[in-house]
Amino acid sequence: MTLLQRFSCLESIVTVQHFLTLDDLPPATLKLLIERSIDLKAQTKKGAIYEPLKNKSLAMIFSKSSTRTRVSFEVGMRQLGGGTLNLSPNDTQIGRGEPIEDTARVISSMVDGVMIRTDAHSKVETFAANSSVPVINGLTDDYHPCQLLADVQTFQELRGSIEGATIAWVGDGNNVCHSFMNAARIFNFTLRIATPEQFTPDSQITERNQSHIELSNDPKDVVAGADVVVTDTWASMGQESEKSERQEAFAGYCVDDQLMSLAHKDALFLHCLPAYRGKEVTDAVIEGKQSAVFQEAENRLHAQKALLEYLLS
Ligand code: CP
Ligand code: NVA
Repeated sequence: MTLLQRFSCLESIVTVQHFLTLDDLPPATLKLLIERSIDLKAQTKKGAIYEPLKNKSLAMIFSKSSTRTRVSFEVGMRQLGGGTLNLSPNDTQIGRGEPIEDTARVISSMVDGVMIRTDAHSKVETFAANSSVPVINGLTDDYHPCQLLADVQTFQELRGSIEGATIAWVGDGNNVCHSFMNAARIFNFTLRIATPEQFTPDSQITERNQSHIELSNDPKDVVAGADVVVTDTWASMGQESEKSERQEAFAGYCVDDQLMSLAHKDALFLHCLPAYRGKEVTDAVIEGKQSAVFQEAENRLHAQKALLEYLLS
């Protein structure tokens, strides 16, 4: 390899576009992705064949369980003409301690994109820093940006622009909440967050999004008049041993009909799923007419197709 070729390889590593948090793409691009997702959804439902990623491969590394993320990326790639590789740490050398840096260099030399679901966010950052192809965050302990593309799309489909809306987060201030906080600043809506004292969101993420968020310890307070009520499991993946302690701490945070009745009369209920009925949400709310959770789940497919088309083609 000539020196020039080596420089251009280096250049491609430095300039490759990743999607680790919503902040990796400019707001205008994110808004276009939502539009594109709505468009791709309509085309797919009409039966149109559109295969811009023919012969392209997406490696999917799952260190945690998944239904929606796994199926939506797999089907999304297939519909766009490409294919996926399902890699779990146990089936690969990752589980035996091969460094992330080496794994990233090897896998990215053979595929066109990598989707990773793992625990520490620093792991996807390390992978991305050593990858010559786009890396997509399919959920870490800190963020879930793909979920927010689907959530914003769902609001837009049902209620129009999310700009200026008031959204009430009731529950744990962790990964999905953090991405909601970033979305509030980027898409210009207000996010009112109610968490128990010990489960408030990360302070740096709070600081970064200060202008668009309000913190509280009172679910009723944040839900009053809101356009959307959103929640998530009280015990995320990796926190299973804290389940009973968390259930006690989150008493009073279940989204039930009484809480929903305080929101705007047309308020939507969202949840990234999987949901635990009778814990963070009642069966009546999730099955009720304000619930958009299954449209939200389906939109993972369409939103990620728009993302894959943008990053990989
Ligand atoms: N919402 C979401 O990411 O679901 P999965 O854990 O099933 O992928
Ligand atoms: N907060 C949840 C989201 C699952 C999609 C978790 O991390 O398990």
